[in-house]
Amino acid sequence: MPFDRSIKIAPSILSADFANFGAEIRAIEAHGADWVHVDVMDGHFVPNLTFGPMAVKAFRPHVKTVMDVHLMIAPVDPYIDAYAEAGADVLTAHVEAGPHIHRTLQAIRGAGMKAGVALNPGTPAEAVAHLLDLADLVCVMTVNPGFGGQKFIDMTAKVRSLRAMIGDRPVHVEIDGGVDPVTAPLVAAAGADVLVAGSAVFKGGSVDAPEVYGRNIQAIRAAADGAGAA
Ligand code: DX5
Ligand code: ZN
Repeated sequence: MPFDRSIKIAPSILSADFANFGAEIRAIEAHGADWVHVDVMDGHFVPNLTFGPMAVKAFRPHVKTVMDVHLMIAPVDPYIDAYAEAGADVLTAHVEAGPHIHRTLQAIRGAGMKAGVALNPGTPAEAVAHLLDLADLVCVMTVNPGFGGQKFIDMTAKVRSLRAMIGDRPVHVEIDGGVDPVTAPLVAAAGADVLVAGSAVFKGGSVDAPEVYGRNIQAIRAAADGAGAA
């Protein structure tokens, strides 16, 4: 399949009803989600705790698109096989999560998944300069990770630098945190192609009113597409 650089909206189920993940996943996919973003937090690397590989494995049969698993955990390496077994398509680790991100990315690919590397807001683009041939995705955090619903931190200069560093390699640039119809065009114009959005997608909707999810996704997509990628 050719590398797809078009805008993809990846709702984060961190903002879904935690008692109803299967129906929530089906609802967002039926209403325009391109990928499903799954935020794994360990209460150690980030000050919040979500779910582990057993829960992610239970989500898998509901996800018909791409299951994009964002690990906010340290260490990462002991859990890579468990997330492969859980059915992650993309597994993203933070560059700040340990001393051997290069080995981690090799191990993720070795386990049969696409490998992502995430950068906290305080980490420069150059941190991934020697990783771009090992990564399928670079995730630029536009909030400090741990919670949904935070204010967008402008990282457009970092996104532009990354796009230039990536060149024609088949590497996605994903934005995570505070993405909504106002901020999406900024990062799309800078060269991002995967837009994670939690609160901006789930706001006002429910599994009983999933058309709201559809409208929210469409509003983000229209704003991003209107910006025109650089
Ligand atoms: C933050 C998570 C994000 C989060 C985004 O730590 O990695 O995926 O759910 O949520 P919003 O879109 O509400 O900022
Ligand atoms: Zn995330």
